Amino acid sequence: MEIENMKLSKSIIGQEEIDAVTDVLKREYLGMGQDVMKFEEELGCFFKRNVTLVNTGTAALHLALQGIGIELGDEVLVQSLTYVSCFQAIKATGATPVACEVCDDSLTLDLKDAELKLTPRTKAIMPVHYAGNVGELDKVYDFAKKHHLRVIEDASHAFGTTFQGRLIGSFGDICCISMDGIKNITSGEGGMIITDDPVVGQKIKDARLLGVENDTESRYKGQRTWLFDVHYQGWRYHMSNIMAAIGRAQLNKFPTFKDKRRLLAKIYQKRLSGLVKLIDCNYDEVVPHIFVIRVEGGKRDMVKEVLAKEGIPTGMHYRPNHLLTLFCNNQDNGTLKHTEKVYKELITLPLHPGLTENNINFICDIIKRVLE
Ligand SMILES: Cc1ncc(COP(=O)(O)O)c(C=O)c1O
Repeated sequence: MEIENMKLSKSIIGQEEIDAVTDVLKREYLGMGQDVMKFEEELGCFFKRNVTLVNTGTAALHLALQGIGIELGDEVLVQSLTYVSCFQAIKATGATPVACEVCDDSLTLDLKDAELKLTPRTKAIMPVHYAGNVGELDKVYDFAKKHHLRVIEDASHAFGTTFQGRLIGSFGDICCISMDGIKNITSGEGGMIITDDPVVGQKIKDARLLGVENDTESRYKGQRTWLFDVHYQGWRYHMSNIMAAIGRAQLNKFPTFKDKRRLLAKIYQKRLSGLVKLIDCNYDEVVPHIFVIRVEGGKRDMVKEVLAKEGIPTGMHYRPNHLLTLFCNNQDNGTLKHTEKVYKELITLPLHPGLTENNINFICDIIKRVLE
């Protein structure tokens, strides 16, 4: 059993990515140009919608929020159990992230709790597709429609996931996806915003280049804009040709990555169901970024320790944001009893396309041995 140096998650890089980056380096145009344009076109075909590329998933969330006009005094509903980037992106606009509970079966945003937290200042809802699973996404859209909210989906864990047969990102309001080094596909670091809203789309394209009007078009022609105007706050958030070259090679490999992630998750699901609590999801639709289990009865740390002794790294996604110093003083965030219970049970098990079926079976054997 090859467990030496087993990783919780990792980038899977081959000669294709190395050749693609080398090609960009040889052309000596490293910044944002034709490679980014081509990657946007290819992703546009993948999602059948407009895609704007940026340098991180956090930048994607920030620009999406800014693009729909979120500002100081506004509130955005978001689950506390998510990466801190969601909370930071909301805070960066001046708005307040309002921490909500998660549903017990899916660990996605609990709409009943969200409803209790609505105020006249609530402008948007940010469902997080936790571990690749989207929960009852249709109900999120019903909720948003009923309460006149914009929806920014954080699909960072869910590149390639479908909901009722439809690809996440190919429908809905605005969808943001991270492509950091360990995601379902990577561009080194990177992020994308997918939307059909032309106003938001144009704003985002300018805002990623410091607000410089129509600079995207110039850079795609290999030019710079000199006599420009700036209408609103922008950031240096654009993607580079080097990143796009990695991302394009990864997109070509995605069918293989997808199959492998699903295969491994299905083994975990089959072997561990009944033994630990699992997220209720269908791996014929979900492409999981992480595999999370819940160990109840105060045995979580023991399981983690035994796995560590056997050379198996584990993680914990996530420390709830309402417990973090920066956000715990926000009176809207109060206590979230269910999230705090779930937090004490969470273990993330290794999952990436470099693992084998034997690796997963070995991990399951250990968990079985400890818990039975
Ligand atoms: C749920 C979630 N949202 C947002 C992000 C932010 O993405 P990035 O690291 O590319 O900024 C991540 C990254 O791990 C994430 O897991």
